Amino acid sequence: MSKIVFITGATSGFGRAAARRFAADGWSLVLTGRRMERLQELQDDLGRQVPVHIAALDVRDAEAVQQVVAELPEGFRQVHALINNAGLALAPQAAQQVDLADWHTMIDTNIKGLVNVTHALLPTLIASGRGASIVNLGSVAGQWPYPGSHVYGASKAFVQQFSYNLRCDLQGTGVRVTDIAPGMAETEFTLVRTKGDQAASDRLYRGTEPLSAEDIAEQIFYVASLPEHININRLEVMPTRQAWSPFAVDRD
Ligand SMILES: NC(=O)c1ccc[n+]([C@@H]2O[C@H](COP(=O)([O-])OP(=O)(O)OC[C@H]3O[C@@H](n4cnc5c(N)ncnc54)[C@H](OP(=O)(O)O)[C@@H]3O)[C@@H](O)[C@H]2O)c1
Repeated sequence: MSKIVFITGATSGFGRAAARRFAADGWSLVLTGRRMERLQELQDDLGRQVPVHIAALDVRDAEAVQQVVAELPEGFRQVHALINNAGLALAPQAAQQVDLADWHTMIDTNIKGLVNVTHALLPTLIASGRGASIVNLGSVAGQWPYPGSHVYGASKAFVQQFSYNLRCDLQGTGVRVTDIAPGMAETEFTLVRTKGDQAASDRLYRGTEPLSAEDIAEQIFYVASLPEHININRLEVMPTRQAWSPFAVDRD
């Protein structure tokens, strides 16, 4: 029996690359996201390799999350790894210029959405027991402040602390929890953040070597397939060409 991985945000970036990585190792896939046509493409492609179940899902909708989990077909129910990847940043401008609605969208997706899916799948993961995994996609922004990060960074700090706290409560169940915190990675992330500004996205990644979706998918797969007595608590990954800046000082 192949193991089953449940991935949120499988339609793009890390989630889509993770679907391919787990499929390459023979895992069965439950792939979710809002864009059904992309899920369908993945099922058509990866379904030739491994069993694939797809479900259109907005993680902000707690009832829909419960329904998707309750209606998992035979052969996809005993989830062994949950990849809580769905998320987004919005509004790269300063906090004082941001629409409140953008803050709410980040909180609803990155915090409430992640909590919705975790809550719905915890009983299944605990039933899977030793070696089961929850892999949460945090960010370097959850640890390190930078201008324009405001609620996005704060939401990823939540992901880090929630991951640690989950570990305390799951002690003895065999379920592992990891916060993967990537730095700059080229996906659709900046296109979403800038509300479709492809030139801004290209500018951000130009002339350097960001992480790729496949780089992070490899890390996600790594932590979920380690020997079952090993738990990576937090894995922070940056491109070699990215580092921190000095403190900003306001001068006369
Ligand atoms: N790229 C980076 O530099 C970076 C760095 C650190 C952390 N991260 C984090 O990594 C995760 C994946 O980001 P990515 O870089 O792969 O970005 P991406 O290419 O934009 O992918 C984001 C995924 O999240 C899904 N998603 C967004 N809102 C959703 C919702 N309400 N319900 C369900 N799915 C939703 C999207 O699917 P649909 O639109 O089809 O729903 C998409 O599949 C995010 O949590 C992000 O915060 C990214």
